[in-house]
Amino acid sequence: MRPKFYSVALFALVGGLAGTAAAAPSDTDAQLVERGEYIARATDCIACHIGPDGTPYAGGKANATPLGDIVAPNISSSKKYGIGDYSLDDLTRVLRDGKAPGWKHLYPAMPYPDYRGMTDEDIEALYAYLQSIPAVDHAPEAETDLSFPFNIRPMMILWNTMNLGKYSPPKGLDEQEARGQYIVDHMAHCGTCHTPRDDMMGSDYDRYLGGAQLGSWFASNITSDATSGIGGWSNRQLAEYFKHGQVSYLAQAVGPMGEAVHHSLQYLTEEDRLAMAAYLKTVPPISDNEQQQAIFKPELSAPAEELEPVVVKATRFNPDQLSEHGLKPDDIENPGSPEGLYAQHCAACHRDDGLGQPASHYASLNGNTTLRSANPRNLVAVILKGVAFSGATPRPLMPGYEGKLDNQEIADIANYVRKEFGGHSASDISKDDVAYIASGEQPVSDLIRYAPTLAWIGVLIVVLLIVAGIWMWRRRRHQGARAGRSHNVHPKE
Ligand code: HEC
Ligand code: HEC
Ligand code: HEC
Repeated sequence: MRPKFYSVALFALVGGLAGTAAAAPSDTDAQLVERGEYIARATDCIACHIGPDGTPYAGGKANATPLGDIVAPNISSSKKYGIGDYSLDDLTRVLRDGKAPGWKHLYPAMPYPDYRGMTDEDIEALYAYLQSIPAVDHAPEAETDLSFPFNIRPMMILWNTMNLGKYSPPKGLDEQEARGQYIVDHMAHCGTCHTPRDDMMGSDYDRYLGGAQLGSWFASNITSDATSGIGGWSNRQLAEYFKHGQVSYLAQAVGPMGEAVHHSLQYLTEEDRLAMAAYLKTVPPISDNEQQQAIFKPELSAPAEELEPVVVKATRFNPDQLSEHGLKPDDIENPGSPEGLYAQHCAACHRDDGLGQPASHYASLNGNTTLRSANPRNLVAVILKGVAFSGATPRPLMPGYEGKLDNQEIADIANYVRKEFGGHSASDISKDDVAYIASGEQPVSDLIRYAPTLAWIGVLIVVLLIVAGIWMWRRRRHQGARAGRSHNVHPKE
């Protein structure tokens, strides 16, 4: 009996050990993939590499740049169309040097200048995750098609030499701020949108996080400046904004920021969101001369700080219900006037007094940074485009008015709400301003504007030099031949 017991126990022990040994690597693999998923969220690869129908990582989204549209490719685990046959080194080179396999130099529309600060461990986890996601077995329909000379990818070698070394990390941060800096600079690439570009389209670190135009939108000044930036926000408010895309009576995340919250920031841990907030408070202030009043109005937002966002079903008002919200269609005295336009098109959700219903996610216009800003771009853009993305809580969104109201009506409403709720004593947005903002046109540096002309002139000069060279060479040869002939002829004479 005894030997049998021992052998059973031995078998059980050996079997158990073998089992743990076999289970252990797959366990850590799963953990690595899980960590990679978090990193993919924090780095927001999906924001650009999403398919036109919303398929994650399918590629096809065009990134508008002054050089033209640059299309993000399929980065799913498909071996043929995605990055399924990438090695870890391949991905590391893409993220650190902007170099894809086959000596393909990437444009910085892929934010490798920011990602290059990512740690080896994080890249390894991200790699494991990307290899684990379903393959999307087709190429994106859109393709990058830049004009000469921007289509010469090796030009990026020069760009990289001039730009990649420019970033110098801040010193003297405590542990929490340093974690925040890592997320802000190297994972969430906040500067891709919030730091303006110089003439060469590199980040202008002298105005680090100082605000930059982004098509129709303006990525706000998020330095620690109390008047122009986020200096007045509490760290909790910033963290709340990253999670919900909303801080009652203060700000909503709309446009590209709404996307960043929707795809990325809402998934981060509270600890990481607070770390980002703590770091932003250390960023050297940059003030904007035009911003006279503080963007942040603490009187309204301080009492509301404790307000928990409440999830309610989207409310749609029909004319009979309007009166419940203090409005009857016949009450509107002068429907064509700015007040009348506001009453008809906005007050149902934002209320007559502009306080909205923030607890149900109808933004307060009163105290809202977008209205208090000296830069009217985001206000006009949100009226044109509406709000299409939400944060961690589902909520009602806002319709866009592009094509429904004309540019003059949009300008009238924008001027009205800025004066009424935004603290401006005057506002003179014109219908042309609205048309310009709607166009999303981006000011382009002379260097980039004239680059094609200069490049063609360069080509012409090279061609002329070659032609001249050939001509001289042939002339020489001709003369040489003639001289030779006369030499040969002479003795005969
Ligand atoms: C701001 C938009 C944006 C974000 C965010 C972004 N990418 Fe890209 N990515 C692009 C664009 C645009 C290209 C194409 C660049 C080009 O054609 O030179 C690209 C190219 C790539 C390529 C090269 C594929 C190839 O073989 O040609 C890889 C790999 C890649 N991205 C991976 C990632 C990963 C991983 C992340 C997240 C860590 C990420 N991208 C985040 C825009 C983005
Ligand atoms: C894809 C571009 C993009 C990225 C990436 C991005 N932002 Fe923004 N951000 C914007 C735009 C555009 C706005 C202005 C629109 C709005 O108010 O919602 C904005 C607004 C904000 C505001 C509100 C400022 C105010 O005065 O209301 C904060 C705070 C902010 N961003 C912080 C960040 C941080 C921190 C990151 C990185 C974790 C980040 N953003 C990444 C585009 C971006
Ligand atoms: C059907 C309801 C509805 C109507 C009508 C509406 N809005 Fe909104 N609006 C919203 C909601 C909801 C939000 C907040 C969206 C979010 O962040 O999730 C919002 C957000 C805003 C913001 C905040 C943007 C920011 O950057 O913080 C502004 C400004 C705004 N609306 C102005 C207007 C104006 C002006 C009109 C009239 C032309 C209007 N809205 C009509 C529902 C509406």
